[in-house]
Amino acid sequence: MKKDILTLLDLSREDFEMLFELALELKKRHKNRATDTPLAGKTLALIFDKQSTRTRISFETAMIQLGGTPIFISAKDTQIARDEPVRDTARVLSRYVDCLAIRTYSQNLLEEFSKFTTIPVINALTDTYHPCQILSDILTVIECRGGYDDLKITWVGDGNNVSHSWINAASVLGLNLTLACPEGFFPDQKIVEKALGKGSCKIVITSDPVEAARDADVIYTDVWASMGQENEHIARKQAFKSFRVDKRLLEVAAKDVIVMHCLPAHRGEEISEDVLEGPHSVILDQSENKLHMHKAVLKTLMSR
Ligand code: CP
Ligand code: NVA
Repeated sequence: MKKDILTLLDLSREDFEMLFELALELKKRHKNRATDTPLAGKTLALIFDKQSTRTRISFETAMIQLGGTPIFISAKDTQIARDEPVRDTARVLSRYVDCLAIRTYSQNLLEEFSKFTTIPVINALTDTYHPCQILSDILTVIECRGGYDDLKITWVGDGNNVSHSWINAASVLGLNLTLACPEGFFPDQKIVEKALGKGSCKIVITSDPVEAARDADVIYTDVWASMGQENEHIARKQAFKSFRVDKRLLEVAAKDVIVMHCLPAHRGEEISEDVLEGPHSVILDQSENKLHMHKAVLKTLMSR
């Protein structure tokens, strides 16, 4: 496996499979109250430039459960916010800690960190991708459906960072992915073309959420306005109003469809309250699996 996880294209199909297997094993051991401390004496720094509940706390807890120490760093309290060059911060931190998890706006900034560090760098969300989210989400799909081959996976909503990581995953794993987004809010064409160029996946993009949801085994949604787009929220509410995941979409989906959302959710916007809290929702399992998957990621990247 490569040194970093900047996007899911850094992983091969074998890497994905190894991480799923390890996460399931670590989950089982955790449920049996077994203690594993392979990262004793190691430190993970989390540099976050955007808010987070799940990603931050699951990475911190993962590190503690593996015997290591997390250090949370709010980017605005560092010299990064006073324009210290990334190359200096990256090289200094490489002398202190063993791994960096970074949540920031620009994917380029994350890549610059990676270029100048000697330690692994993990993308904990950028404007363009959210790779670790999709790793834990596919783990949830595996648990609920026994695998991911032959499933119709449907994304409903904004062609955003989370959707881009689904597209990357589709290209590596050969998934059947349909995305329903309003005109003007499609995923990045370059990311889609690159995925299609690999040949083995099926990616359909449409503006018809009902057709996208028809016979879907998985329906996934996310907020209409991501972090950094707060001032577009009102305009987006108008553009996305027919892209709510609600009963109407569940009625045309497969009978045992699972409904997913990375959270945080806006009830009554991208998802209705009854669907979020209903029997098809596996949303809290997704959140739990972030802990187990982050343990698998940290153990793999940091044990070397
Ligand atoms: N799903 C997710 O990344 O949530 P947080 O923003 O709370 O970390
Ligand atoms: N697309 C959302 C995901 C939050 C986990 C955002 O970037 O805000």
